[in-house]
Amino acid sequence: MTRIVVTRRLPGPALRALSEAGAVTIGAEEQDMPRAELLAAARGATALVTTLTDMVDAELLDAAGPVLRVVSNYAVGYNNIAVDEATRRGVAVTNTPDVLTEATAEFTWALLLAVCRRLAEGDALLRRGETWAWAPEFMLGTDVYGKTLGLVGLGRIGQAVARRARPFGMSVLYHGRHAADSTLETELGARHVTLDALLSQADVVSLHVPYSDRTRHLIGARELGLMKRTAYLINTSRGAVVDEVALVRALRSGTIAGAGLDVYEREPELSAGLNTLPNTVLAPHLGSATLETRTRMATLAADNVLAVLRGEQPPSLINPEVWR
Ligand code: DGY
Repeated sequence: MTRIVVTRRLPGPALRALSEAGAVTIGAEEQDMPRAELLAAARGATALVTTLTDMVDAELLDAAGPVLRVVSNYAVGYNNIAVDEATRRGVAVTNTPDVLTEATAEFTWALLLAVCRRLAEGDALLRRGETWAWAPEFMLGTDVYGKTLGLVGLGRIGQAVARRARPFGMSVLYHGRHAADSTLETELGARHVTLDALLSQADVVSLHVPYSDRTRHLIGARELGLMKRTAYLINTSRGAVVDEVALVRALRSGTIAGAGLDVYEREPELSAGLNTLPNTVLAPHLGSATLETRTRMATLAADNVLAVLRGEQPPSLINPEVWR
């Protein structure tokens, strides 16, 4: 019998499609399946549909055993999965790229605008019922128009963020291991620079790299120190790309002007002091959180499983080695 474990309830018709293909065990919507429960549920499963908070490691893969054929991650990021361990066991690993690109880019801009124009601070002030009055120097923020946006990473989401920069009159610098082809650079109006050059020239630095050993603490005290004192940091990628303790220090001391954050190093915990700083806009990992996007992610996660069950290569396979 085909057994499919879905660790969280997902929006849209995806669960129905999966239940037509096998017996589905579903976790709660609002919290992780406890580890012991997940290990037990995985036993003898053919497919696991996981989220970014499920640790898919050798222990879980072993618990599932040799019938496991696919781990379908309900996220574009898959740093929660030991892909090499899955590959060694011949297990396909898939993710949900593309379908969340525009939503995440929109949210990046929401944070950028909110922090530069002090929107959250203003909202909080009114909700506290404080007395206020318009004044020439009341709650002054920073212009976005005409400034320089520095994108660390120019993958799908980085590109979608860059596309939105033109109407805001921003010039775009980017850093990646490789320069993009010149057609794309021209289309985006983006110029490839070193990370240090980007940090020292950009008015807003936005992070769009996957999390890995290579990108852990890519932005630490040294890098924050290279940024302009008037610059802002935006992070919608993964929290641990930034050394959060160093960030709190930089925000407190005025090393940088502010930050818009959607992700945290020890999610859902925040580093001490972060939520008391006025020059931050903090969101609880909402980058892809629209009904349409989360529904598309669920459909793609299900399509990946269904393809494997039919013996077909899934649409977003991360480890094609298992398919040769
Ligand atoms: C992802 O897909 O990696 C996001 O962080 C989840 O919204």
